[in-house]
Amino acid sequence: MHVLHVVGARPNFMKAAPVHRGLAGHGHIQTLVHTGQHYDVQMSDVFFKQLGIPKPDENLNVGSASHAQQTAAIMSRFEPVALAHRPDMVLVYGDVNSTVAAALVCSKLGIRVAHVEAGLRSFDRSMPEETNRMLTDQLADLLFTPSRDGDENLAREGIAKEKVFLVGNVMIDTLIRLLPAADEAFTRLKNELSLQDFGLITLHRPSNVDEEAVFLPMLEMLDRLSGDLPLIFPVHPRTRNKWSARLERSNPNLRVIDPLGYVEFLALQKNARVVITDSGGIQEESTYLGIPCLTLRENTERPITVTMGTNVLIGRDLGLLRKHFCAALNGDRKQHILPPLWDGRAAIRIAEILSR
Ligand code: UD1
Repeated sequence: MHVLHVVGARPNFMKAAPVHRGLAGHGHIQTLVHTGQHYDVQMSDVFFKQLGIPKPDENLNVGSASHAQQTAAIMSRFEPVALAHRPDMVLVYGDVNSTVAAALVCSKLGIRVAHVEAGLRSFDRSMPEETNRMLTDQLADLLFTPSRDGDENLAREGIAKEKVFLVGNVMIDTLIRLLPAADEAFTRLKNELSLQDFGLITLHRPSNVDEEAVFLPMLEMLDRLSGDLPLIFPVHPRTRNKWSARLERSNPNLRVIDPLGYVEFLALQKNARVVITDSGGIQEESTYLGIPCLTLRENTERPITVTMGTNVLIGRDLGLLRKHFCAALNGDRKQHILPPLWDGRAAIRIAEILSR
């Protein structure tokens, strides 16, 4: 079978890596297309290297633009590539613009599409990713879900259950594989950054970082909290582009640094006292690692991280953020258990299903 993978943005890479490895074990022909949605070395190349993903066969070099322009550019540049390769199956990952754009092209060309990380829903249509998730799932021929709530969401949207396979969480496959590398990296980072106790922050959602009235009070609270625990803030380019001048004036205990590679970020996450984030993937990784996660969002498409894991939804309530931050520092931790099928074998299940 000829399988073509489409990846484009940072959170795609750690999902595609284990599936590519799993399929290689079955001897399939594989083609890798990078849309170029993310293009900075620290947002893309570093991940390919650390995750052991082969160099892309094709790069569409779409770069940044408005949603419509970016999605349209991916579609028009991907169509001839899909026609030239004529794969038996295209695999798309997660919920970024590259995911929905490639799925739509394949659907129109009659090329079968499989969606890895299907069925997740935040039920918040103001999130661009929610549109991407819903449309991709409608277009996909095979849907691989990470957790039971995904299957339930798809059933509610009328997707035939024969197309849906509960396989577990591919991102956790990557995490488990690279934990030893992260432990090694931590020894180095600890010295480089003179780390003792620390917390870790990531913020890049448009709903948090685009508007001054939302972002600045958040940053002021983080400045204050860093008085109790030094905080490390690897800044996404979206956030950096908008707020570089303000970020430079932060409290010195709030350490603003460039985005990190996968292994370095995992190293910091594993050793942090608390993580504050608006990312999707980090809610899951911190649950696996048992690190308290305070999510600055009103909702999550990954509810299992709240019901079973270490995640707490803070929304924009900065008083609540302070309360849970202090609780984490006092060792007052939420009870948590590992969600089912977060066992490092999700991609192996996908490869077996595709091979059948
Ligand atoms: C995208 C995904 C989001 C994901 C995030 C992870 C969509 C709709 N959003 O958001 O779901 O959580 O990736 O990072 O697909 N930029 C750079 N260098 C890069 C990439 C981006 O400087 O390599 C800057 C550009 O100014 C760009 C901005 O970041 O306009 C936003 O990039 P974009 O890919 O549009 O969305 P993200 O916010 O990264």
